[in-house]
Amino acid sequence: MPPKMPTSSLLLSACFISCILHLFYTEGFSCPDYQRAALLDFKELLVSVGSSVQELESWNFSSTCCEWTRVVCRAPGASDDVIGLDFSHLNSNSSLNSDVLSPLFRLTTLLLLDLSNNSIQGEISGPGIANLSRLVHLNLSRNSFNGNVPVELLHLRHLESLDMNKNFIQGDIPSDIGNLTELKILSLGQNKFSGEIPSSILRLTNLEMLDFQNNSLSGHIPVEIGNSTNLTILALSNNLFSGDLPLSIQKMEKLETLLLENNRFSGEIPWWLFDIKQMKNLRLGGSRLSWNNNGRVSPKSRLTGLSLNSCNISGVIPLWLSNQTTMEFLDLSNNSLEGVFPIWLAHLNISIMMLSDNNLTGSLPPLLFQSKSLLMLELSRNSFNGTLPENIGEARSIQILMLSGNKFSGSVPPSISNLDRLVLLDLSSNNLSGNKFPVFNSQLTYMDFSSNRFSGEVPTSFGKNLFIMSLGENDFSGPLPNNLASFSGLKHIDLHDNNISGTIPEFLSHFSSLRVLNLRNNSFEGTIPDTLRNLRILDLSDNRLDGIIPSRLGEIDAPDIYASTTYTFGIDPVLQDLVKNCRCADLIVNWKKSKRVLSSQNLDFYSFLDLSSNNLSGQLPPSLGKYKGLKLLNLSFNSFSGDIPTSFGDLGTLETLDLAHNNLSGEIPESIAKLPQLNYFDVNTNKLSGSIPQGPQMDRLNDKTHYANNSGLCGIQVEIPCQLTTGKLDDDNDNDDGQKLFSWKALLVGYPVGLLSTIAVAYVLGHFDGKTRINSTWSFGSSTWSI
Ligand SMILES: *[C@@H]1O[C@H](CO)[C@@H](O)[C@H](O)[C@H]1NC(C)=O
Ligand SMILES: *[C@@H]1O[C@H](CO)[C@@H](O)[C@H](O)[C@H]1NC(C)=O
Ligand SMILES: *[C@@H]1O[C@H](CO)[C@@H](O)[C@H](O)[C@H]1NC(C)=O
Ligand SMILES: *[C@@H]1O[C@H](CO)[C@@H](O)[C@H](O)[C@H]1NC(C)=O
Ligand SMILES: *[C@@H]1O[C@H](CO)[C@@H](O)[C@H](O)[C@H]1NC(C)=O
Ligand SMILES: *[C@@H]1O[C@H](CO)[C@@H](O)[C@H](O)[C@H]1NC(C)=O
Ligand SMILES: *[C@@H]1O[C@H](CO)[C@@H](O)[C@H](O)[C@H]1NC(C)=O
Ligand SMILES: *[C@@H]1O[C@H](CO)[C@@H](O)[C@H](O)[C@H]1NC(C)=O
Ligand SMILES: *[C@@H]1O[C@H](CO)[C@@H](O)[C@H](O)[C@H]1NC(C)=O
Ligand SMILES: *[C@@H]1O[C@H](CO)[C@@H](O)[C@H](O)[C@H]1NC(C)=O
Ligand SMILES: *[C@@H]1O[C@H](CO)[C@@H](O)[C@H](O)[C@H]1NC(C)=O
Ligand SMILES: *[C@@H]1O[C@H](CO)[C@@H](O)[C@H](O)[C@H]1NC(C)=O
Repeated sequence: MPPKMPTSSLLLSACFISCILHLFYTEGFSCPDYQRAALLDFKELLVSVGSSVQELESWNFSSTCCEWTRVVCRAPGASDDVIGLDFSHLNSNSSLNSDVLSPLFRLTTLLLLDLSNNSIQGEISGPGIANLSRLVHLNLSRNSFNGNVPVELLHLRHLESLDMNKNFIQGDIPSDIGNLTELKILSLGQNKFSGEIPSSILRLTNLEMLDFQNNSLSGHIPVEIGNSTNLTILALSNNLFSGDLPLSIQKMEKLETLLLENNRFSGEIPWWLFDIKQMKNLRLGGSRLSWNNNGRVSPKSRLTGLSLNSCNISGVIPLWLSNQTTMEFLDLSNNSLEGVFPIWLAHLNISIMMLSDNNLTGSLPPLLFQSKSLLMLELSRNSFNGTLPENIGEARSIQILMLSGNKFSGSVPPSISNLDRLVLLDLSSNNLSGNKFPVFNSQLTYMDFSSNRFSGEVPTSFGKNLFIMSLGENDFSGPLPNNLASFSGLKHIDLHDNNISGTIPEFLSHFSSLRVLNLRNNSFEGTIPDTLRNLRILDLSDNRLDGIIPSRLGEIDAPDIYASTTYTFGIDPVLQDLVKNCRCADLIVNWKKSKRVLSSQNLDFYSFLDLSSNNLSGQLPPSLGKYKGLKLLNLSFNSFSGDIPTSFGDLGTLETLDLAHNNLSGEIPESIAKLPQLNYFDVNTNKLSGSIPQGPQMDRLNDKTHYANNSGLCGIQVEIPCQLTTGKLDDDNDNDDGQKLFSWKALLVGYPVGLLSTIAVAYVLGHFDGKTRINSTWSFGSSTWSI
């Protein structure tokens, strides 16, 4: 039995065109020659650009085009004109230039043209479109059309549906769009439209669906929109709309779906939205609207989906939700809700419930887990406490269970083994304990138990599908169990801050997908396995490792895996969008002496290597200079000796290089000055000598303590002039040292702070989002399409 899924009437239009096409009876007609010729020209063009046309085999000179596949004719009087072309996902080539469409513009009799999903690039031909003046249905969606909407399109006055969803069309929505008064479906979502909604929209009184989602539209929603009283779907999410919601929306009595998420509205969510009887799907989260929780609301609608995330809701979970018994999707995350989890809410049988980032307290009602429809429960970062209900295993449909950042205590109930569809389990940052682990089902791919008080041996009672294992910050002890060796699909092993001892097992080198290995702050001893490689994050700091750095450690020659696979997790597609932003698998790294969260989305680009605070010795292998994408290299507090390899200058992305507290000798290689992004460099307490390299970047790395305790370092950074005899200074030897220092300082002031700000930029871009909350893109509710 498929689980109850939230549905949207957006999908109802899916067969709009193809269904209409099938109403026409095609056999027995014979199309005019010029139409057949046009279609054959089109086929020829497709062939010439290498698109597979196997499907068009029936298109030949000896048959009438009314018998061809994907062609529809009818007989208006005497002639059998081609009136419909259903070319949706016809092209198999990765891209097709819009020029190939030119023969089609000779088919002036067309009523229906579906070109959707063909990877067509280039502009929409204005003169071409102008020829198709009878068009009633035009579907250009899911291509790569760019440029503006051609003005000729606005002459197609018979158009009832215009779907240009998912392209790269830019510019304003033409103000004459209002001339297309027959339009029932207008879908311009997922393009690059900007500007405001033209007020001519008031002439589109036949509209049933208006989709402008995922553009850069701004301004107010025009009050005129209320004249489109037949609208059932109004989708404006993910834009820059501002202002209040117009009262005129009340006039749309047929409105079923209102998607306004992620905009810049202001003011309060009007209560009358809940008086629209037909309303089913109301997504208002992240739109900067607030909800006054003191108002008395008695909704006339029967909602199936409601998102009110980030709406400044305070007080308890509103009681008026309790008669919304049809609710399948509820997102109240990121508000200031307090009080307990109401028992009536557990009664509602919601499929997807998101209450994360609130102040909810008390324990979870066992009734909640008696639901057979619960697919996803996201309660992270509240103040829930008590033990996890013993009957947690009754929620047999659940795929995603996220309870991170609460105060749950006690052990994990054994019944959790019964959750045989569970894919993603996050119990991190609670007070959970116990040293006996339940057996988990084989679907589980993601498991985060970090920051609890679990103890005993590292558990291995998972299925072989597990690819993310986060057990950091617990009390696990003993050596790593041998049967961990059978989890060779693991991509991400995080065991930091435990008491695990023994050696780092050799078998980890054979995990071909392993990209993240974090064993920081344990009691590992022995050497680093010399076949360990292909790691994006390797943190072995604060252990008791000895021996040398194996020379293959810097090799990354395996394919990148994160961009493509991290977020699929093997979850139902319906839920995937919801976990896309979940920060699952994000990683805490030591970044410039403080802990930062590294988004797993960046693991294909960044690498980190931290071997600090061990007893490692020997020379630094020059091969480390090949470490792809290395951002942080921390080898401090070991006993390394010999030179700093010149090859470190090849680590072009390096931002932090910490070699402090070792026995390194010789000079700092000039090549270090080539590192354009280096903004932390520490070599204190070594035996280095000679002049510190100079260069725009190096000259700014002038914290003297980072060079202290060496055997005679000199240079601008430490304000110790080098002896001219070292020959390292530049040509103007005749300046006296005082003057030189002075000009150096002047130079320093002159450098822009731009390089330090690369980190700040990284924050803004979300490269380091997460627990620090610098990035506010945390929103579960942006998944309006798939629900
Ligand atoms: C346009 O085509 C796409 C993909 O084939 C389809 O999903 C969509 O429903 C169509 N639009 C209309 C309005 O029929
Ligand atoms: C796609 O088309 C281009 C030219 O437009 C051609 O070079 C290429 O071989 C085609 N690819 C396939 C898979 O047919
Ligand atoms: C042309 O196509 C028709 C089907 O549309 C087929 O019956 C006929 O054999 C084809 N003729 C040639 C010469 O390929
Ligand atoms: C788009 O076309 C591809 C084949 O080219 C097909 O696999 C995919 O399902 C189509 N998508 C939609 C939404 O129709
Ligand atoms: C418009 O159709 C006419 C035939 O009716 C044709 O000659 C002309 O080339 C077409 N224009 C374009 C731009 O395709
Ligand atoms: C839209 O209609 C108005 C008034 O009928 C007309 O002046 C204008 O040219 C039309 N615009 C387009 C693009 O057809
Ligand atoms: C709404 O649709 C009905 C038929 O579904 C139609 O009769 C009516 O004219 C439409 N209303 C408006 C304002 O266009
Ligand atoms: C729309 O934009 C949002 C945020 O930019 C994004 O998360 C979402 O995936 C987009 N929706 C679609 C269907 O592409
Ligand atoms: C829009 O609706 C208002 C009433 O709400 C009405 O006065 C006005 O005439 C309508 N405009 C059009 C163009 O239908
Ligand atoms: C919900 O309850 C209120 C009264 O509290 C009632 O007016 C309203 O009609 C009910 N709504 C539904 C959908 O049952
Ligand atoms: C949660 O409650 C505590 C006090 O109980 C308060 O200090 C804190 O600001 C609240 N947090 C939110 C997000 O409302
Ligand atoms: C849970 O927290 C509440 C206060 O929010 C407290 O009264 C209760 O004793 C706590 N329960 C447990 C089991 O810690």
